Amino acid sequence: MSQPDQSLLTDALAAIGACADLAQLEEQRLHYLGKKGLVTRAMTGLRELAPEERSRRGGELNLIKDGIAQALTERRSTLEQEQLNQRLAGERLDVTLPGERAHTAHLHPINITRRRVAKFFTALGYQVTDGPEIESDYYNFESLNFKENHPARDMQDTFFLAESDVDGLCLLRTHTSNMQMRVMEQSKPPVRTVVMGRVYRCDSDMTHTPMFHQLECLLVDSDVSFAHLKATLTSFVRYFFEQDVAVRLRPSFFPFTEPSAEVDIQCVICAGEGCRVCKGTGWLEILGSGLVHPNVLRYGGVDPDEYSGFAFGMGLERITMLRYQIDDLRLFFANDQEFLRMFH
Ligand code: PHE
Repeated sequence: MSQPDQSLLTDALAAIGACADLAQLEEQRLHYLGKKGLVTRAMTGLRELAPEERSRRGGELNLIKDGIAQALTERRSTLEQEQLNQRLAGERLDVTLPGERAHTAHLHPINITRRRVAKFFTALGYQVTDGPEIESDYYNFESLNFKENHPARDMQDTFFLAESDVDGLCLLRTHTSNMQMRVMEQSKPPVRTVVMGRVYRCDSDMTHTPMFHQLECLLVDSDVSFAHLKATLTSFVRYFFEQDVAVRLRPSFFPFTEPSAEVDIQCVICAGEGCRVCKGTGWLEILGSGLVHPNVLRYGGVDPDEYSGFAFGMGLERITMLRYQIDDLRLFFANDQEFLRMFH
């Protein structure tokens, strides 16, 4: 190896060894091996030499180039290791700091209730369904034995759709009872169905919102009596509220059930002692119920001489409020994260 080449290599190795960081190392790489680097240029210069000389010099330069490349690689890994060590030494890990909670999604309280309801009734062999929210007058009222001038059809309660938007008179269903007929039309007894979904009424205050959710239970079979209704209701409320609550039926009226009853449960807040929630009575009204009216069975293609049935309907918000002691219905729809996070 000729003298200048020897110093080319030793100079390069010294310069590389002196590099204090990766940026400096890159400078040296360019200086020797870059496009216009010393070694690269020397290699280009080989062209002008006689063939014999060219191969000898070429061989030398290749050795130098390999030597420099190897030195660069080694220095790079040393510098990277040093950098890492420095960073690790400077970084302090305080394992006592509170962690950052990842916000994962969770169910809305109404959906928690829906799942709970579904779990109970599927275990009893019921099917859980929902149905159309835009409904005809026939399914929402007429087939449920509502007389034509029944006050529930009144504009004040029911949202009607403009007739130009739809064929015939359509409305937003005011209750999940619209599904009673649809279910009976589609199946033969025995029928065991629970419907859960949105209903709409033109009403808005602390305890009413224009949209809310109902649960409807319909059972049609032979020899169904009020005893079946009461037993089903009682075991449902006991399961739902996880308390041994008493149930009380009061005579009432619905066009589609006969006889009909409003159902009260013993106040789950004060255990019947009397409190603000039950207005001192010890009882809470939670639902409407009754034996399916023979006219309704007939509309549904079921022979009332052969079959009977019971039905009840309740608000999902109402039972959710009681279960979690929530005092403002509007919280369910305000999308307030502080409130919703409590159900995580
Ligand atoms: N649909 C009634 C309501 O919304 C409740 C009900 C359902 C009553 C089934 C009797 C039977 O008030």
